Amino acid sequence: MSTSQKTIKRIGVLTSGGDAPGMNAALRAVVLAAEHYGIETIAFRHGYQGLLDNDAVPMQAKDVLHILQYSGTIIKSARCRRFKEVEAAQLAAKNLDSLNIDALIVIGGDGSFRGADHLANHWQGQIIGVPGTIDNDVYGTDQTIGYATAVAIAMDALDKIRDTADAMDRVFIVEVMGRDAGFIGLCSAMSSGAERMILPELQKEKALTISALVKHIKRVQEIRGEGSYVMVLSEHQWPGGAVALSEQLEAEYHLPCRPCLLGHIQRGGPPAPADRILASELGVHAVELILAGAHRVMAAKSQNACVAVPLRETWEKKHPLDENLLRIQHEIFNPVKKKQQRAAL
Ligand code: ADP
Ligand code: F6P
Repeated sequence: MSTSQKTIKRIGVLTSGGDAPGMNAALRAVVLAAEHYGIETIAFRHGYQGLLDNDAVPMQAKDVLHILQYSGTIIKSARCRRFKEVEAAQLAAKNLDSLNIDALIVIGGDGSFRGADHLANHWQGQIIGVPGTIDNDVYGTDQTIGYATAVAIAMDALDKIRDTADAMDRVFIVEVMGRDAGFIGLCSAMSSGAERMILPELQKEKALTISALVKHIKRVQEIRGEGSYVMVLSEHQWPGGAVALSEQLEAEYHLPCRPCLLGHIQRGGPPAPADRILASELGVHAVELILAGAHRVMAAKSQNACVAVPLRETWEKKHPLDENLLRIQHEIFNPVKKKQQRAAL
């Protein structure tokens, strides 16, 4: 945190990377908090692209009325490859200065924070990140904005899949998002009672083979009798994803199997209460951090407290899965017990 404090008159805000439920709530909180403290807010549309194009719109409380109940982002988001270039950061700095912006709030994931750090190398203003991504793969915050909604959506879909899977004694492979992290996979599997999950974190330990999977399915059927088998598959964890795996199980092992890709459904609909509340708190926290002179930090919630985490740590350190949840879902709730465990029962 910087010690030199200047009067903050005008701040910028943008949403960047994959949109996440709650980004609108975070934007609303930033605008309302800024207005509360007598600061003007300028929003840049389409993430970093808007910084380069000077696509700037002033925002007041009236502009953010009744937006917190919607996913997406009213100021748009984007991925902007060009922003990695030094010239792009320099242009962004020039545009920010021409608008007399004292500080910038970036709502996005770890990629967006790298962008913020890159900009900080070329711009004198304060920069604060607010964690918004469904993936929850940002170090330093217990949860990211959007994650709770994505898990709730995946759980709801898995409950529905269970009804039809059970009715026809089928195997279902349900593919969820998460980029390279298994947070959505683990928590949707646990909250829906899935029989199996393939997560990046588990694959690193010991990659699941098709024969081991078939063995598991058959063993579960043996133990439980007729019924369904639902597996949660994190994206990018099987060549060809849920469709290829399901086709392989049907063709080669004659298992009645169907794939289901949840995809971008996980990013839409009404944000969960937890995301609206987290976004509201962190949006205000970001503005208050600016007033306190903070720079190059993420406004985060950790162990029930609002904290400031150095931006670099958010991607240099790894946000681990909850080991206890992983143990419970993968071992204790695994319908197939190891031989020794079975003998002891
Ligand atoms: P997320 O913020 O959800 O992780 P991305 O990884 O797509 O999403 O990053 C969003 C944007 O942040 C990118 O499109 C790019 O504009 C910017 N960005 C990401 N990494 C860097 C980097 N190393 N340097 C500069 N900008 C970056
Ligand atoms: O980072 C959020 C996320 O939804 C990831 O879970 C997913 O891998 C990616 O974005 C999808 O990106 P796009 O919306 O560009 O297809």
